[in-house]
Amino acid sequence: MSDHGLHSFETRAIHAGNTADPQTGAVVPPIYQVSTYKQDGVGGLRGGYEYSRSANPTRTALEENLAAIEGGRRGLAFASGLAAEDCLLRTLLRPGDHVVIPNDAYGGTFRLFAKVVERWGVDFSVANTSDPAAVRGSVTDRTKVIWVETPSNPLLGITDIAAVADIARTAGAKLVVDNTFASPYLQQPISLGADVVVHSLTKYMGGHSDVVGGGLIAADADLGEELAYHQNAMGAVAGPFDAWLVLRGIKTLPVRMDRHSENAARVAEMLTRHPKVVEVLYPGLPEHPGHEVAAKQMRAFGGMVSFRVQGGEQAAVEVCNRAKLFTLGESLGGVESLIEHPGRMTHASVVGSALEVPADLVRLSVGIEAADDLLADLQQALG
Ligand SMILES: Cc1ncc(COP(=O)(O)O)c(C=O)c1O
Repeated sequence: MSDHGLHSFETRAIHAGNTADPQTGAVVPPIYQVSTYKQDGVGGLRGGYEYSRSANPTRTALEENLAAIEGGRRGLAFASGLAAEDCLLRTLLRPGDHVVIPNDAYGGTFRLFAKVVERWGVDFSVANTSDPAAVRGSVTDRTKVIWVETPSNPLLGITDIAAVADIARTAGAKLVVDNTFASPYLQQPISLGADVVVHSLTKYMGGHSDVVGGGLIAADADLGEELAYHQNAMGAVAGPFDAWLVLRGIKTLPVRMDRHSENAARVAEMLTRHPKVVEVLYPGLPEHPGHEVAAKQMRAFGGMVSFRVQGGEQAAVEVCNRAKLFTLGESLGGVESLIEHPGRMTHASVVGSALEVPADLVRLSVGIEAADDLLADLQQALG
């Protein structure tokens, strides 16, 4: 794995973890659909594998790839993004600890903090992480984790990772960055000072809306080892076929992200000129409040665009219902374009909380179809 550190991102995405199968020379790691491994005498493991919850060669290939493309020391693959988050939080936190979480984040992440983690005796403060002073003001002497999602889901808020990393270091807290929206091709949180990167591999990393998975990448080998121990102890691992699908998806991540970003920029620009659109949230727009920070820490601005529709909630719901090429559905990051109403769909779990999203908001996951077709569909959906 270490030699891949010398290569460019595109090369690592294709080769890291993808060593030719030693038995057959197959250039793609096989799907080791197996639970257990024959031992040559008690304790005589052939390739270090004994049971597939603890380790599986296809999952190892993905985990090595994840570490290489995020620039971390250890990658781990889980059954879902939330399974990865759960393992991370149960590793980092003890009763009495405090966490700072963003005021804009995936609803399921907020639900994990508010409905599960809080019951273990861990409390949290909600802060606008786009404002480093607000993060600093929320830190207490019990703060062990600062959690950041940038760009955020669904409001596309931008947090200055390097600035918050400084605050975390001073506080003796770990900085966790959910890099799902950007992907490591567009943004490298560990190089900016993050301790752990979290992924819903379901999204851009898999890239084809055909797998649910999660990832953790630790900057530090010791924390990576502790997380690996807990991954096995808790058991929510990625299965071999799921790991294989994500590994395959990652090979085309750079070309997909370039196209997602180009298409999203065109969609955002069209929406800014549309009379039925009240506000467009896209970090690539010069008027976006996080534009400068995004330009500093991201290679391009990604494929997610949110916008607010004139006429309130009902008008936003109607736009979602009228779209044809944009499929109405949850999730994001696949090659096909998706549209959804966060207030009633992905973010229904934050209604009534500090993370509640505007009722007139529509979220787009802009795919890699022809941009002109996407623009035409949105124009007809807006009426
Ligand atoms: C930013 C972000 N983080 C984490 C998750 C959770 O991942 P999963 O659905 O794979 O459990 C999601 C899911 O939508 C997400 O959008």
